[in-house]
This record gives sequence, structure tokens and C-alpha cells, in this order.
Amino acid sequence: MSVIFSGIQPSGELTLGNYLGALRNFLDYQDTDECYYCVVNQHAITVPQDPKELFTNTRRLAALYLAAGLDPKRVTLFVQSEVPEHVRLGWIMTTISCVGELERMTQYKDKSQKRGDSIPAGLLTYPPLMAADILLYQTNYVPVGEDQKQHLELTRDLAQRFNRVYGEVFTIPEIKLSVGGARVMSLQEPTKKMSKSDDNQMATIRLLDDEETILKKLKRAQTDSENSVHYDKENKPGISNLMGIYAAITKDSYETIEQRYVGQGYGTFKKDVAELLIDTLRPLQERYNELIDSPELDHILDEGAAKAREKASKTYRDVELAMGLHRK
Ligand code: AQP
Repeated sequence: MSVIFSGIQPSGELTLGNYLGALRNFLDYQDTDECYYCVVNQHAITVPQDPKELFTNTRRLAALYLAAGLDPKRVTLFVQSEVPEHVRLGWIMTTISCVGELERMTQYKDKSQKRGDSIPAGLLTYPPLMAADILLYQTNYVPVGEDQKQHLELTRDLAQRFNRVYGEVFTIPEIKLSVGGARVMSLQEPTKKMSKSDDNQMATIRLLDDEETILKKLKRAQTDSENSVHYDKENKPGISNLMGIYAAITKDSYETIEQRYVGQGYGTFKKDVAELLIDTLRPLQERYNELIDSPELDHILDEGAAKAREKASKTYRDVELAMGLHRK
């Protein structure tokens, strides 16, 4: 049995990218492995958050984890800030990180660029906190989207560095990319990834979007003037992104999709992608509506935090002992 850990930030309403790149794949492990799935709200505050919105998004994300099919009897589902060992180990991981390697992270470069002269330091120290999240559970595999590969590599480096200096405390985790390793791109700027914090509402499909909204967003998705459903990521990023979404849901190859849509324009294809998404998201949205205001959700999160703490505190104690930070 392997240990699985992954987390998603409550930094906005979840997108189709979060679902296809991460959440959907979490289900693959719940029957066979020891799974920890976390709402990483302390990562979300690396950029300013409105407290009320953060609180709501945290609850929503937890409900979406369950609505997507995670079973709280088989997985440990919890909120990061309710397990204090995450920030405690995060600090230790920061002390063994080098500024240069943190500055080289693509996500840091992208997000800090948008912040002008006042770059929050948390954006830089985000990866050591992510390393702590993973290492606390002696994780073997981390199912994340392809965009998180660089952070995972840094986590491995930090774990190896720690073990070399202080002794073998951490398991070295491996990344598990979603099938096809697909990165879902923005519907409006298809060379940029779809992100939940994108201010342009037309750029993202949100998991809780209603049918009309999904149809409208698909209709307005950026494509090219050729009007032929053909996969070419370099030259036709818009239609290729829509084909990637279609393929991720149906598991059809690009060739099969191309053949199916020979002689049909983008209008028909976009409508079919929209209907596919509506059918995929409907059961998830129904379950979400049942859960979001229920006391059951609070109970699940309380139990999850207690269970996560049991394991996290054991690892954290080993870390302190190894480093001479513990008196006994
Ligand atoms: N566009 C995407 N395609 C595939 N996978 C994606 N993920 C995110 N966007 C895509 C995966 O979803 C998980 C959520 O990660 P996160 O919330 O911790 O951070 P993120 O990668 O920064 O996600 P966002 O949506 O882009 O959030 P913001 O806008 O707040 O930065 C990860 O497994 C990620 O790979």
C-alpha cells in the first residue's frame, strides 16, 4: 500500500483544469492506498485573499472533493490550517532551501511579475511549504497536474538534502501525472494555463457553472480562422485545447476526434464539448448542493484533521529530534 498526498488551493472557484489535472485522478487511489487530500488554505494566502471569500472557498473546495467522489471513509480529507505541523515543517524546509532555487520556480516568476514592486515573500517560500505538506505524510506518490512538476522536483531535492544532513527521516515522493499529462489551457488565451484566479470569467470553466454559462463560454472560446477540427498545439492552440478537453473526458484519440468531425465546423464541435461538460459536471453539482450546508461536511473535516495530525505529528517529532530541536 502506498501513501498518496495531494492538495488544491481555495484561491477561487475550481476550474475544469483543477478537475482534469488533479481532482478526478484522486479517485484512482482511494480503494488501494492510504490517501491524504488537503485544502491548502495556507498556500492561498501567498497572495492577498478576502477573509470571507477564503472561508467560503475553503468549504466549497472540501464539498467539491466529496462531490467528485472521494469517500471520507477511505481517504483522509482535511484543511491545512487545522494541522499546525504543516507550517512548522514549512519553516524548516524554508531554512534548507536556497533563494536562488526558489527564484527559479516558474510559478514564482509568473505570479511575482504581476505584483510589481511589492512581491509577497510567501510567493517565494510557497514550494518549501508544499514540500512540508507532502513530506509530513511520508508520501510515495503525489497526483498533480503537469504544471506542478517543478515544485515536486524541488520537494524531492529538499527531502534528499535533509536526509543527507540529518539522517533518513523522509520518504522521497514521486509525481503521478494525470493520464495524458494534460494541461488545460485558458479559453481566451490558449497559450496560458486555465487558472482559478484568472479574473477573466470567460477564460475558465468553473465546476459549478450552469449549463447556459458553459455553452456561452465554449461558444466564445478562442480558435482560429481555419474552421477545421485538427490537432496542432503550436499553430492551433485554441482548438487543440478544446480537443484536449474532449479527449480527456471521452478517452478518444485526437485521430478519432478529427475523423468524427471531418467537414464539420468549430460551431458543432464547441457545442458537443459543451454538452459533454454539462453531462460530466451535472452529478457532481447535484451532490455538491446536498453537501455544502450540511453538518456532515463539518464532521468529515473534523475527523480528517484529527487523523492527519496523528501522522503529521509523528513525522514532525522525528524531524525535531534529528535536528536537535527537541529536548528529549
Ligand atoms: N490548467 C490546468 N490543467 C491541469 N491541471 C491543473 N491544475 C491547475 N490548473 C491546471 C492542477 O490542479 C491542482 C490545483 O493546484 P493548486 O490550486 O494548488 O494550484 P495551481 O496549480 O496554481 O492552480 P490554479 O487553478 O492555477 O490556481 P491559482 O490560480 O490560484 O494559481 C494541481 O495539481 C495542479 O497541477
